[in-house]
Amino acid sequence: MKNWFNNLNLHYLIRVLAGRTLCLRGVGSQIGRNARIINIGGPSNRISIGARSIVDGELLVFPHGGSISLGEWCYVGSGTRIWSGGSIEIGNRVLISNNVSIVDNLTHPISPKARHKQFQQIYSSGHPKDIELDDQPVRILDDAWIAMGATILRGVTIGRGAIVGAASVVTRDVPDYTIVAGNPARVIRILSLTELN
Ligand SMILES: CC(C)(COP(=O)(O)OP(=O)(O)OC[C@H]1O[C@@H](n2cnc3c(N)ncnc32)[C@H](O)[C@@H]1OP(=O)(O)O)[C@@H](O)C(=O)NCCC(=O)NCCS
Repeated sequence: MKNWFNNLNLHYLIRVLAGRTLCLRGVGSQIGRNARIINIGGPSNRISIGARSIVDGELLVFPHGGSISLGEWCYVGSGTRIWSGGSIEIGNRVLISNNVSIVDNLTHPISPKARHKQFQQIYSSGHPKDIELDDQPVRILDDAWIAMGATILRGVTIGRGAIVGAASVVTRDVPDYTIVAGNPARVIRILSLTELN
């Protein structure tokens, strides 16, 4: 009972009671008290959380598009933001630490004029439905681990069992079972056979 109360997420509860679209949830998935599920105007199946996964960060899909699918036995830490205008696909047993940012689009146009126009739209009526933000899919494959404070930008695939070091900025694909770190992230080493067992 105490644990249930400690994990109570009022933001989620209010949206459920208000009949807002949220997400699909697998058996045993948990929405932590810091989590935010923000599905701006789309059907609930645009965000899915697999069985026995725990989300304590923010999952957001934009009105112009986007989908987020999280596999089974995953973790998304607090302060982490996963924002999709295209598609963000996360496999099984993926651990995503605190304060990680994953975004599959530019979020704002490159041109200052277009950027201000977008901001005016956000100010007056919310994020626009009709906008080009160079969405490019992000994929994080099974058993990857994204350490605290990392940023993953559009178009990137993180390989199976790969590790992204703390505070890295990942702009290019990461091969399977490889550790990357830095800004921009570069390969540090490949996991050894001993480490894989
Ligand atoms: C800065 C940014 C707009 C650049 O976009 P761009 O001009 O399209 O750049 P590209 O993606 O084509 O990358 C060009 C080069 O810069 C590097 N690069 C891009 N963004 C980088 C970043 N943030 N840090 C370090 N290197 C970066 C890329 O690795 C690439 O180098 P390479 O060719 O040696 O691999 C974009 O990458 C970015 O940082 N977007 C942030 C989005 C964001 O924060 N959204 C949410 C908050 S509002």
